[in-house]
Amino acid sequence: MYVRQLAIAFALFVASDATSLADSAPTSPESYPSPWSSGGPDGWDDAYKRAHEFVSKLTLLEKVNLTTGTGNQADRCTGNTGSIPRLGFRELCLQDGPVGVRYRAGSDRRLADLNSAFPAGINAAATWSKSLIRRRGEAVGAEFRDKGIDIHLGPVVGPLGRDPAGGRNFEAFGPDPYLAGIAVAHTVEGTQSAGVIASVKHYILNEQEHFRGGISSNIDDKTMHELYLWPFADAVRAGVGSVMCSYNKINNTYACENSYVLNQLLKNELGFQGFVVSDWGGQHSSVASALAGLDMTMPGDGVRNSTYGSYWGGALTEATLSLALSQFRLDDMVVRIMAAFYKVGRDTKQVEINYSSWTNETVGPQYWRSKTGNTTVNKHVDVQGDHAELIREMGAKSVVLLKNKDNALPLKKPASIAIIGEDAQDNPNGPNACVDRICNVGTLAMGWGSATAEFPYLISPATALEKQASADKTLFSNVKSSWDLDAARAAARNASTAIVFVNANSGEGYQTLDGNFGDRKNLTLWNGGDELIAAVASVNPNTVVVIHSVGPVLIDNVKTHPNVTAILWAGLPGQESGNSLTDVLYGKVNPQGRSPFTWGKAAEDWGITTLVNSSTPEPQQDFIEGSFIDYRHFDHQDIEPSFEFGFGLSYTNFSYTNLVIKPQDVGPYEPASGTTIAGPTFGGVNFDPESALLPEGFEKVPGMIYPWVNDTDIPDNTGGPDFPFAAHNRSAQAILPAGGAPGGNPELYKVVYVISVDVTNTGEVSGTDIPQLYLSLGGPAEPKVVLRGFDEVALNAGEKKTVDFNVTYRDLSNWDTEAQDWRVTSYPKTAYVGASSRDLRLHVDL
Ligand SMILES: *[C@@H]1O[C@H](CO)[C@@H](O)[C@H](O)[C@H]1NC(C)=O
Ligand SMILES: *[C@@H]1O[C@H](CO)[C@@H](O)[C@H](O)[C@H]1NC(C)=O
Ligand SMILES: *[C@@H]1O[C@H](CO)[C@@H](O)[C@H](O)[C@H]1NC(C)=O
Ligand SMILES: *[C@@H]1O[C@H](CO)[C@@H](O)[C@H](O)[C@H]1NC(C)=O
Ligand SMILES: *[C@@H]1O[C@H](CO)[C@@H](O)[C@H](O)[C@H]1NC(C)=O
Ligand SMILES: *[C@@H]1O[C@H](CO)[C@@H](O)[C@H](O)[C@H]1NC(C)=O
Ligand SMILES: *[C@@H]1O[C@H](CO)[C@@H](O)[C@H](O)[C@H]1NC(C)=O
Ligand SMILES: *[C@@H]1O[C@H](CO)[C@@H](O)[C@H](O)[C@H]1NC(C)=O
Ligand SMILES: *[C@@H]1O[C@H](CO)[C@@H](O)[C@H](O)[C@H]1NC(C)=O
Ligand SMILES: *[C@@H]1O[C@H](CO)[C@@H](O)[C@H](O)[C@H]1NC(C)=O
Ligand SMILES: *[C@@H]1O[C@H](CO)[C@@H](O)[C@H](O)[C@H]1NC(C)=O
Ligand SMILES: *[C@@H]1O[C@H](CO)[C@@H](O)[C@H](O)[C@H]1NC(C)=O
Repeated sequence: MYVRQLAIAFALFVASDATSLADSAPTSPESYPSPWSSGGPDGWDDAYKRAHEFVSKLTLLEKVNLTTGTGNQADRCTGNTGSIPRLGFRELCLQDGPVGVRYRAGSDRRLADLNSAFPAGINAAATWSKSLIRRRGEAVGAEFRDKGIDIHLGPVVGPLGRDPAGGRNFEAFGPDPYLAGIAVAHTVEGTQSAGVIASVKHYILNEQEHFRGGISSNIDDKTMHELYLWPFADAVRAGVGSVMCSYNKINNTYACENSYVLNQLLKNELGFQGFVVSDWGGQHSSVASALAGLDMTMPGDGVRNSTYGSYWGGALTEATLSLALSQFRLDDMVVRIMAAFYKVGRDTKQVEINYSSWTNETVGPQYWRSKTGNTTVNKHVDVQGDHAELIREMGAKSVVLLKNKDNALPLKKPASIAIIGEDAQDNPNGPNACVDRICNVGTLAMGWGSATAEFPYLISPATALEKQASADKTLFSNVKSSWDLDAARAAARNASTAIVFVNANSGEGYQTLDGNFGDRKNLTLWNGGDELIAAVASVNPNTVVVIHSVGPVLIDNVKTHPNVTAILWAGLPGQESGNSLTDVLYGKVNPQGRSPFTWGKAAEDWGITTLVNSSTPEPQQDFIEGSFIDYRHFDHQDIEPSFEFGFGLSYTNFSYTNLVIKPQDVGPYEPASGTTIAGPTFGGVNFDPESALLPEGFEKVPGMIYPWVNDTDIPDNTGGPDFPFAAHNRSAQAILPAGGAPGGNPELYKVVYVISVDVTNTGEVSGTDIPQLYLSLGGPAEPKVVLRGFDEVALNAGEKKTVDFNVTYRDLSNWDTEAQDWRVTSYPKTAYVGASSRDLRLHVDL
């Protein structure tokens, strides 16, 4: 029903002006007070107790200092909070990004500083390997820890990937919430085990780059729970210390001041115990955002018309003194920050910050923007460890083999190979030649934007393959241009195998590349990729196509071309790109990648269009498709894709037998009940405004944000819309039926069925299979099937292993909007095990 209402609202929007839109546009309900953290399992209780002790010692100004960034580029990291010099507590350091330490020094230099460049999130997901994903999280965490970083700005599950053209999809783990949830949980566990706080982002519904700072993503409650919130629940259950709220609006309220998504969904229902930090510049109000559940603002400045240059800092001190912000809320903000700090062991694992984001020089200003505080800013600490091996392994294991006609692969000492296309080559100006990778020159191994790191080196496919060819005495040729079709044909004609390299890029929408404003403007290959493949395949009957892309591209013509014998998707593999690919092409690694998204035949097949034009500054995007994105949509509309979600070949074959279902004796699902503790406060607040004035003799770093007030005349701002009465109520609150612990009601995770299947390697070589469990939850408005389990099974030729899938209440449930809880519906349910979302080989009724 809601879907229809939204459709009507949208029709109004098209037909009339912005005023009537505002009248009909959906809104978010208010949810106050902001839930206070209360500890919890898996270390939160202990962390909370220690945070409580620490925060009890702080003054008002010191508390405010921890909530507020000191300004864009003010200090050494992507963002820094204030410090507490009285207690020897240094500023917290927050740093981009998901694939490694993002080092942005200067505009001419492009060198890494002894850090690694990891595979993108989409590649991590493509391995379907929980252990590899965890190791990636841990290795990334270790690099951040050793540079002195407290908070890693990643991993990403928003965007989820509603729109296949979405610019930042590659940062995340693909559009299936179950796969994304498993991947984010293992990443968070890995990163935080290294002693660094993970900040899962971007919360929530930041599904496209166009208008990201003003667009309203309008969504119904059921889809929110079953799709977009799902992986965030897994991150919270995994103990994530921080969540970053996004730039967009949800139901017409900015994510960072939306009390429904922050207070109700994240902190109350999901029981999140850590802190919410704003995306850079994502905060748009002072007290309102604090009451809505924001705990830390970044980068803290940029508010020109405020006395304090910030929504918080001195403004938050003022708000506390004037009682517009209750002490329990301020204390909760700081307790949450400190609880995350103790939860991951920062008190024992923190080292001094020993790098600067903004300069590669050894000696330079600590305070970059004001160019003051000269010191040894870069100690050039080598944090790479042996991570190159993991990067190479993950790069190889994330390759999805989409086609392999007559066992064209693996290659076995071919007489000659021709490497063709710019995507196989080194960037002549070095792998970091373009700031934030905003170009598409040479091989593509990273998307563009803030989710980048400097490459320490980048092994191009041409380099690695030439080395292999030389070892095998294979005649090697290399055509570097993608546009010289004559040269391509000439080289291909000669070669026993022609390997064509093509790509498609996307990124963060603060800059346009070739007309792509972050989001892709089309789903075709870039730089004449189709023409290049066609030219090569027209003359060589053994053409292998390698695709480096951020997501699906339209390649049905390539799939069906008789001379294209193999297609590999290699995604965005990071620094070991060429080595990883060579391992797969030559069979040192038997491919186990499975596509983490659907490959349609035409852009229209997904049923989603990027909103690129708007006549209002507040464009509305209605998620009217509900849960039907990616394979759920293709299945529902019976659209045949080129390659389906979960698809990927191996150099061997696997069979599935003996599907057995074992019901577990766990009793019925019990909704959570009871009440929380009353909102606690920690330490006193000195309400004398004199005590909040800048101490005499204190020398401010120019331009930095501080907690002090300017004036003892504190204006009364306890009235008006910023003062919802309920936000100041700190009496015990009812626990939501679906809530009660991090990740939601623990009952949801009780195992109701164990489903087992025997997997046999029926081929000639050893290999790793990814058996997949799908459920049909039944009912007229549900997807045909949804992923609910997978495993990674290494098998020698002829070997058989039994795989168990745990099916929980959550896996079997739908969100019941009336009950505001998860419910197993009475519709008949079926479990399927297969090799992809469309290759469902065995089934059993539940
Ligand atoms: C958005 O609005 C719809 C329609 O009023 C409502 O069902 C849904 O719960 C709202 N969601 C959020 C997050 O505000
Ligand atoms: C707040 O943080 C700044 C920057 O680190 C520091 O200079 C200042 O002394 C801190 N203020 C208080 C009251 O601790
Ligand atoms: C900083 O980068 C420049 C190149 O832009 C290089 O010449 C210089 O040696 C680098 N400095 C250090 C200390 O690495
Ligand atoms: C980073 O530098 C600090 C000193 O500034 C040092 O204590 C710390 O050990 C360094 N980190 C590593 C991994 O060497
Ligand atoms: C600053 O400007 C914004 C946007 O124009 C406005 O909404 C806000 O009320 C102003 N704040 C102050 C403190 O004047
Ligand atoms: C800081 O150090 C740099 C590099 O050594 C030097 O060029 C600059 O003049 C110094 N600035 C100050 C304020 O001392
Ligand atoms: C094709 O092979 C011939 C003979 O083996 C060689 O002379 C010629 O240079 C090759 N052409 C290309 C484009 O590699
Ligand atoms: C799609 O966009 C890419 C990148 O901008 C461009 O290279 C390509 O030519 C476009 N495809 C079509 C069919 O226009
Ligand atoms: C396949 O390659 C052969 C050359 O070996 C060529 O004659 C033929 O036309 C090609 N087929 C297509 C469909 O391009
Ligand atoms: C968006 O607007 C531009 C300029 O008005 C126009 O050229 C373009 O075709 C429009 N795009 C879409 C998808 O409507
Ligand atoms: C308040 O302090 C800020 C930051 O130090 C300063 O820029 C501003 O001029 C001061 N305003 C007043 C009214 O004193
Ligand atoms: C399945 O659930 C059991 C407890 O019921 C647990 O011990 C086991 O680790 C779970 N296995 C997986 C793969 O989650």
